[in-house]
Amino acid sequence: MSDILQQQQPLLSVMDLHVSYGAIKAVRGFNLDVYPGEIVCVIGSNGAGKSTLMNAIMGNVKRQGGQVLFEGKPLDGQSFQIVTKGISLAPEGRKVFAPLTVYENLMMGAFPVNDKAKVKKDLEWVYTLFPRLRERMAQYAGTLSGGEQQMLAIGRALMASPRLLLLDEPSLGLAPIIIKDIFRELKRINEEGVTILLVEQNARQALLLSHRGYVMQTGQLVMEGDAKELLHNPDIQAAYLGTGKKTH
Ligand SMILES: Nc1ncnc2c1ncn2[C@@H]1O[C@H](COP(=O)(O)OP(=O)(O)O)[C@@H](O)[C@H]1O
Ligand SMILES: [Mg+2]
Repeated sequence: MSDILQQQQPLLSVMDLHVSYGAIKAVRGFNLDVYPGEIVCVIGSNGAGKSTLMNAIMGNVKRQGGQVLFEGKPLDGQSFQIVTKGISLAPEGRKVFAPLTVYENLMMGAFPVNDKAKVKKDLEWVYTLFPRLRERMAQYAGTLSGGEQQMLAIGRALMASPRLLLLDEPSLGLAPIIIKDIFRELKRINEEGVTILLVEQNARQALLLSHRGYVMQTGQLVMEGDAKELLHNPDIQAAYLGTGKKTH
């Protein structure tokens, strides 16, 4: 599948990206392509630079070097401008607006969409993907469970009607059964036409969902490939999947 997809122009290209926080070099020359229709993951341990990568794409942190292209054009500007270009992020830690209701959170996500009929249609789609959000539409977001807040963060990002959905650790802190539910819906979102880039410490879940994967270590790319091949790679298994055999 990926071979066919890759004959097209990448939807997103990250080229030689560098990001530092003072003396800390968080991303050091990272490269990545996402093709239309794909689910691509970046796996890496805590502190590898995954969130920094997402925030640098979204314009939330300053890039020190390199380039990001979206649909072949330089992607620059602040995050609200980037959202209007067709990319939205469900951030690490959900970051829902706690004192607003579920419905109000979803409507905040729809700010770049001017067409009322489209907003209504997208809202119905989000409620179909996550029926729990429909049940809780009048509840304050701060009172939702972790899994429900994650659904809301994804739903809010979808309300911006993105062509590329970025997900930062959607499985973090959630029970396995909830992760399974959410990842099933991510597959459905992708099948309904949204390209996905996700970053995850949960390498197994991420690779099972994705077409292709990249491995990030201390801000650098150490391996990339077909997700199934990465799942079966002994080095990846030993480092990230906890199934590798000890050799000594
Ligand atoms: N706002 C910040 N100020 C200073 N250092 C930061 C900041 N955010 C992240 N870092 C550092 O940058 C590195 C990468 O962090 P991050 O991108 O959050 O990694 P990941 O998402 O893979 O856990 C880490 O060493 C982290 O401590
Ligand atoms: Mg992170």
